[in-house]
Amino acid sequence: MQWGLKNRLSGIIKPETGRTLMLALDHGYFLGPTTRLEDPKKTITPLLPYADAIMLTRGILRNCISPDVNTKVVLRVSGGSSIIGKDLSNEAIITSLKDAVRLNASAVALSIFVGSEYEHQTLVNLAKLVDEAEEYGIPVLAVTAVGKELEKREAKYLALSSRIAAEFGAHFVKTYYCEGFEKVVEGCPVPIVVAGGPKMNTEFEVFELTYRAIQEGAVGVDMGRNIWQAEYPVAMIRALRSIIHENKTPKEALELFNEIKNKG
Ligand code: 5RP
Repeated sequence: MQWGLKNRLSGIIKPETGRTLMLALDHGYFLGPTTRLEDPKKTITPLLPYADAIMLTRGILRNCISPDVNTKVVLRVSGGSSIIGKDLSNEAIITSLKDAVRLNASAVALSIFVGSEYEHQTLVNLAKLVDEAEEYGIPVLAVTAVGKELEKREAKYLALSSRIAAEFGAHFVKTYYCEGFEKVVEGCPVPIVVAGGPKMNTEFEVFELTYRAIQEGAVGVDMGRNIWQAEYPVAMIRALRSIIHENKTPKEALELFNEIKNKG
């Protein structure tokens, strides 16, 4: 792996622990002003010190994040469909690599939609992005998106998508935690981060998902709604950090969460 690419990747996946806490904030690119992300700056600012990287579009980066930020940037560069459009999988590259370099991105992210109508198009997008990003030494995060078809969140499907992403040259992969997650990890030769999915009922469930994903081989999370839609987002992200970087159990993370929450 080239030095620059490796250096950028190690800014995201921290060499001290081999893990990462990425904060996903890209939801607006197809959902518009999602609940609690209506005013991104207000939501994101208190969380920034606790994230290793933020994943977002250039519009939110330019308008809502101060350029003196210490947190690494993973720039979403695919899009082109909305939640009210015909098909979420109809994506293209929407941001150039030149702009990613100008914005000092540590990685670029794009979605692939395996099994969808636009499977071929999104996989070719990935292949082309890897070719171009490697010229600049920028790692590519492939997001194994499932669109509206959430029933596809099972090991067989996620293992297929994650492996294809790695075969096409993605340097790391974002997928979902699922039953039999070890199979997804086993078949994917590059690091995996997991999304959180829709907001869960309790904090403990989020801690359990994160803990299990890590135990079963993920290098961390790229989580959004379960952090910034939480009642106490700072307590939430700090507790998640303790699982990811300090090997705390869900029970210990909940204790820390309550401690931070009660301090206000
Ligand atoms: C959408 C994405 C989102 O960033 C991803 O779903 C993570 O957010 P959440 O934890 O809210 O599911 O990549 O394709």
